[in-house]
Formats: sequence, C-alpha cells, structure tokens
Amino acid sequence: MLNKFSFALLLSGFLFASCSNTKQAATQNGMSSLKETFKKDFLIGTALSGQQIEEKDSGAARLVPQQFNAATPENIMKAEIIHPSWDRYNFDLADKMVAYAKRHDIKLTAHTLIWHSQTPAFLRGMKDADSVKQYFVNHITTVASRYDGKVYSWDVVNEALNEDGTLRNSIFLQKLGDDYIVEAFRLAQKAAPHTKLYYNDYNIEQPKKRAGAIAIIKKIQAAGVRIDGVGIQGHWHVDNVPMNDIEESIREFSALGIQVAFTELDLSVLPNPRGRTNSADISNTSTYNEQINPYTKELPDSVQQKLATAYAGLFNLFLKYKDNIDRVTFWGVNDGQSWLNGFPVRGRTNYPLLFDRQYRPKPAYYAVLETKTRGSAKKAF
Ligand code: G3I
Repeated sequence: MLNKFSFALLLSGFLFASCSNTKQAATQNGMSSLKETFKKDFLIGTALSGQQIEEKDSGAARLVPQQFNAATPENIMKAEIIHPSWDRYNFDLADKMVAYAKRHDIKLTAHTLIWHSQTPAFLRGMKDADSVKQYFVNHITTVASRYDGKVYSWDVVNEALNEDGTLRNSIFLQKLGDDYIVEAFRLAQKAAPHTKLYYNDYNIEQPKKRAGAIAIIKKIQAAGVRIDGVGIQGHWHVDNVPMNDIEESIREFSALGIQVAFTELDLSVLPNPRGRTNSADISNTSTYNEQINPYTKELPDSVQQKLATAYAGLFNLFLKYKDNIDRVTFWGVNDGQSWLNGFPVRGRTNYPLLFDRQYRPKPAYYAVLETKTRGSAKKAF
C-alpha cells in the first residue's frame, strides 16, 4: 500500500500529495500534519531518543518538527542518566533537548522526577531514610529548577500505583512513607512555579487503579499543593483498547479540575504472551518463540487496517473531550524505535505507531487525520 514512491515524496517534502482518498482529503484541506490538524484541539507529541534529540537521525530530524508540537525525552531525563552520582548531574542531553525544542517551537514534557525504575545506582542500595530524603529533595529541587520556564510540564511522579490501586512498594514509599507523593509535588511546585505538574501512570484508566490515582490527586489538592494534570500513558493492545474505561477516566479526572494528557500512546499488534492484559511493567517479561513474532517482514494489510481503526476510534474519543485533553503524545517517532520491539519479549518486530521504520506514514496516520476532516475514520478505507 505504501511504497518507495510515497517515501520519495516524504523526503522531498510533499508528504501528502499521493493518490488515496484520505491523502487527497488531507491535501485538499491544507492539513499537512498532525500538529496542524489538531492545533485547536490538543498538542501532539512524540517521545525522542538521545540520537533524535541530537538530530543524528535524519528521518526524525525532518519529520518531528513537521508533525509534532510536543515532545518527551524517552530516557535522557530519567534519574539514572541525569543524576548519576550523589553530587553529580549530567545535563548535557537535557540542555540539548531544550535548545532543540526552542528551535522548533516544541513544548517539552520533562520525564520524570520520581520513579521507582531507572533510579541511579547510588540510590538503589541506600538503607537509611535521611539519605533517601536528601536525595529526594536535592534531585527534585536541582533538576526541576534548572528547567523551570524551559519545559512545559513535568511528570513529577511516575507509576506510583499497583494494579489494585494501592501504592507501589518503592524505595520512596518504604523510606519516606505515604506522603512522599504530596511532598514531591510540593517541592516541584516550589522549584518549577512556571511548569505544569503531572502525575503519570499506565493502566490508570482501569477502575481500581484509577481510584488509586484519584485518591493521590485529591490528597495533593487537600494539602493545598498544585497538580495540573494526570497522564494516562496509553500502552494498549490493538485488540484490547479499553474505550469505555478511557472515556470514564477522562470524565472522572476532569471532574477533579485538572487536565488529562495521553502521554505514551502506542498500540501493540503482536500476540501478548500474558494473555490480554495491557501492562507496561518492565519487570514482567517473557521468552521468545516464533509464534509470537508473526510479522518479521511486514505488517499484513488486515492488521494495518485494524490498527488504523483502533487509532481512529481513540482520536474520535479524544476529539469528543478535546476541552479536557491537553496533549496526546506517541511513545516514539517510528515503529523501529519503539520499546515494544523489546517488551515484553526481546527481539520481536512490532508496529505500534503512526510511522513505519522508514518514517513513512501508515494507514493509521491517515485514519487519525481523517477523524478531524470527516469525523469518522471508517470512511477512510
Ligand atoms: O543506556 C543503556 C546503555 O548504556 C546500554 O548499553 C543499553 C544495553 O541494553 O541499555 C541502555 O539502557 C536502556 C535504556 O532504555 C536506554 O536505551 C535500558 O536497557 C532499557 O531498559 C531502557 O528501556 C526504556 C524503559 O522505559 C526502561 O525504563 C525504554 O527505552 C523506554 O521507552 C521506557 O519508557 C517507559 C516510560 O519511561 C514510563 N512508562 C513506561 C514506558 C515503557 O516502558
């Protein structure tokens, strides 16, 4: 369906001058990109790797400024990288990202201040609560204040919940107690008064986990501390997008007076070895076998269409709630970059995003545009 011809067009800047009805519609309406198409609705973001931030990836260097007006560093602002030892910080790549975003008028979401994963080695072995507390205060204050006014929002706390809505037994919970999330937001508020502050997690559209997130948000608000939004990550499977739960979540979170963002959107198309449970718990992996890696050469048209329909359904919903949704960010620019090639099984070939491995737009891309131009993606195919 998409061939070398369309890739050549992409490279020469005539991305949408091709022959399908959907593409014609996009061109006729002068809608040349995701960011333009949804500019009155919500920001459209992507996660960027270190290479992409440094513009060493020529495909991304062309595509990102054209398509996206928001971005999140996929890894380079995580504590393990930005704060490698007690009193040493490594701001090089984060500073480059800020400069890159400024050049291209992209709003940055800094990711993430407090997370149980990818913590610095010196923190992992820490035994006493005072040391953890000092790390916690220093880390949030130093990193958040450096980027205040330079980034649009912070994922202040990431993935603090278990699936049943209770608090995850992280080093922060163990050493600092139940109030650590409120304290993280209090410190972030002080260090970053000009930056939106978000709580971010996966599966929080699910009722029990959602209730846990609501309890966290209410507790922060009751303490008189600022929280501006909640990030629903959106790591789902194409066969199992929980539309009703997502809609209910948008309503319930919005009722708390905060914004909703979809912060890490991707839809896996591969068999899930753990059944149909959506999860982004990176400790939960499985072993490889050929049956669970069926599309090593290319994605069959039928699955392309299924992906397109699923994405269109999501964007129709997002448009319905556009007044409550601040941003929709995809977790990666193209399929080749996606973490889902390595999770929950290493070495697979997945296709969860809107652009293929050569940065060509997929049918899902046009279906997403189509939600805006015609109000229904079904007509696109
Ligand atoms: O940096 C090391 C490098 O030095 C080493 O040579 C290489 C060898 O494997 O590993 C590199 O680290 C990898 C890192 O990505 C940077 O590429 C880690 O192994 C790998 O586990 C890590 O994966 C990231 C994952 O978070 C782990 O935390 C993914 O790229 C990233 O997409 C993923 O993103 C998370 C969000 O932050 C939070 N929500 C869930 C989402 C998906 O897991």
